[in-house]
Amino acid sequence: MIDKEVLRINNVTKLYGNQKALDNVTISVKEGEVAGLIGPNGAGKSTLMKIIVGLIRNYEGNVFIEGENVLSETNKNKKRAGCVIENPGFYPELSGYDNLLYFSKISGCSGKEDIDNIINLLGIKDFVHKKARKYSLGMKQRLGLAQAVLGNPKLLVLDEPTNGLDPNVILNIREFIKYLSEEKRISVIISSHILTEIELMCKKVFFIKNGIIVDEVRPADNLQNPEGSCFVFETDNIRELKDFFKAKNIYTSIHGKGKVIADLKEYSIREILSMLLENNINILGTYRQKASLEKRFIEIMEENIIE
Ligand SMILES: Nc1ncnc2c1ncn2[C@@H]1O[C@H](COP(=O)(O)OP(=O)(O)OP(=O)(O)O)[C@@H](O)[C@H]1O
Ligand SMILES: [Mg+2]
Repeated sequence: MIDKEVLRINNVTKLYGNQKALDNVTISVKEGEVAGLIGPNGAGKSTLMKIIVGLIRNYEGNVFIEGENVLSETNKNKKRAGCVIENPGFYPELSGYDNLLYFSKISGCSGKEDIDNIINLLGIKDFVHKKARKYSLGMKQRLGLAQAVLGNPKLLVLDEPTNGLDPNVILNIREFIKYLSEEKRISVIISSHILTEIELMCKKVFFIKNGIIVDEVRPADNLQNPEGSCFVFETDNIRELKDFFKAKNIYTSIHGKGKVIADLKEYSIREILSMLLENNINILGTYRQKASLEKRFIEIMEENIIE
């Protein structure tokens, strides 16, 4: 069975005045898939998330959830996406529990049983009867997550949900997201600066920089192939080396001064080295790179600065 596409973003460009916050973004997320969005401050992560949930409505391009444009009126009523973006808003004088109860009543999607189930899964039993105004950041984040899920969304949009939280709470949230994706087949798009977090949770990761999606990586590929097919090449002619790889459709990025990292995929290092020799491209040294997401992140963030 081919997995259904739940989120589809086509050529989305967003301008704030003259400044491009998003530049021709095209991505998709399938049913039950957890996708990550990583990029430096100001990359456009929050802007993209607000567009997905309809908080920003003025942009070029199209966003579809389950095939329906998020800007269409019918979509608005169906509440296909739940979200935790910036500070989740609650009634401060009500307890967390009563906030959830009120929300489930107005959304008409979930009953008391669902609320209790979510409270258990998120491990928020201890404080759910406290007034919301007394909540810490970690408590607020988890209550926000509970509220987002109560609407029975097909897609969950989480903007830095683990930022500033302690490791136990992060573990809690991570397991909850895993449960939603695996048991409920909910799709999730999640932004974070904590790369190891994203690596553990996400099936695919989009790297965003200056509003542009610069790469898409599947962390599981690295885990399944711990040896990896990425090699670092040291050279005195970066341009020539990059052109050589480009002609073979081998993806490269700059790995610091005089170094290029290339994912050789089906080529062996032996084949590549002999071809480089034939082409008279000077290689000063080479070694295997165990590609982790963090290294990739640094490479991508470095690339434009050096070039
Ligand atoms: N309301 C706004 N008006 C004008 N410019 C904005 C507005 N919101 C965001 N921007 C600009 O758009 C760009 C993208 O911002 P955005 O908040 O989407 O980035 P981000 O990746 O979420 O960053 P961070 O990691 O700091 O949360 C930035 O250059 C920012 O200054
Ligand atoms: Mg942001």
